[in-house]
Amino acid sequence: MVTGWPNMSNPADDTFFFILGISITLLLLNTGVMIFFVFRYSRKRNPVPEDVKDNVSLEIIWTVIPTLLVLAMFFVGWKGFQYMRTAPPDAMVVKVISRSWSWTFDYANGRESDTLKVPVRKPVKLLITSEDVVHSLYIPAYRIKEDAVPGRETHLWFLPDELGSFDLFCTEYCGEGHSAMITKVEVMTEKDFEAWFNGKDAGTGPVAAAATGKAKKVEERPDGAGLLQVKGCLACHSTDGSPKIGPTLKGLFGKKETVLRKGRERELIVDEDFIRQTLLQPELDRVKGFPPVMPSQKGLLTDQELKELIEYLKALK
Ligand code: CUA
Repeated sequence: MVTGWPNMSNPADDTFFFILGISITLLLLNTGVMIFFVFRYSRKRNPVPEDVKDNVSLEIIWTVIPTLLVLAMFFVGWKGFQYMRTAPPDAMVVKVISRSWSWTFDYANGRESDTLKVPVRKPVKLLITSEDVVHSLYIPAYRIKEDAVPGRETHLWFLPDELGSFDLFCTEYCGEGHSAMITKVEVMTEKDFEAWFNGKDAGTGPVAAAATGKAKKVEERPDGAGLLQVKGCLACHSTDGSPKIGPTLKGLFGKKETVLRKGRERELIVDEDFIRQTLLQPELDRVKGFPPVMPSQKGLLTDQELKELIEYLKALK
């Protein structure tokens, strides 16, 4: 049951406990009968084996009962599946874009975020897609999971019934940074959500503070720092000097790097051209010592955004 939301039960939980109940009952029943037979029909009590002929009524019983049980499980599962596939018509639609290895959430008014911000007690419908490989969106708190497939839009919905912050992560192994592909669902009061949605501060309530504490504030048109966040760069690149899946961005500009082009090494100084090339055609030159996994940002960054990123990286000493 989803707590605090009357008349609304979570079909995944109901189905789970229904099947678990049947399984436990059958386990106890089977084991009990087995143990009973071991004693009841032991050689001591039955020195002469008996030839047991067919028993039609028994055969019917042990065919019909399991069939009914399996059909009941199917029915419960099917009902739950239908419920989960059919979003209420008034659900708020959020587009989910996944990529190696981060999530971006796009709202109807163009607002973007790297955490999924939602108002409490309003159904939310997610339209999910991927920019590269197959990922899978998983929010354990709401018992929902759906693949993110490139070139295709999948969907699901949920009802955030209480305030708080819940894990949202990738549950399909998608490469080196799979385990870093984790973010939060921030369930906010309607007021805080409206404030954030309309581009103002996300309020001062404890939930709003928790929601914005880690992610900081992402402006309507993000600056360099905001871009690194919403475009998912920070999943692989740190800004504090520590190496992650990719090189750190701190002090990158003007640094001497060894790069590999078709297996041949050469040295270069990181300049504007190199950053631009790495963002748009990362396959050309790879920085030595890191896996060749940087996805191209071609078509994902506007010229203006490219400029802002480069300016930001220049200043990141
Ligand atoms: Cu994306 Cu695992």
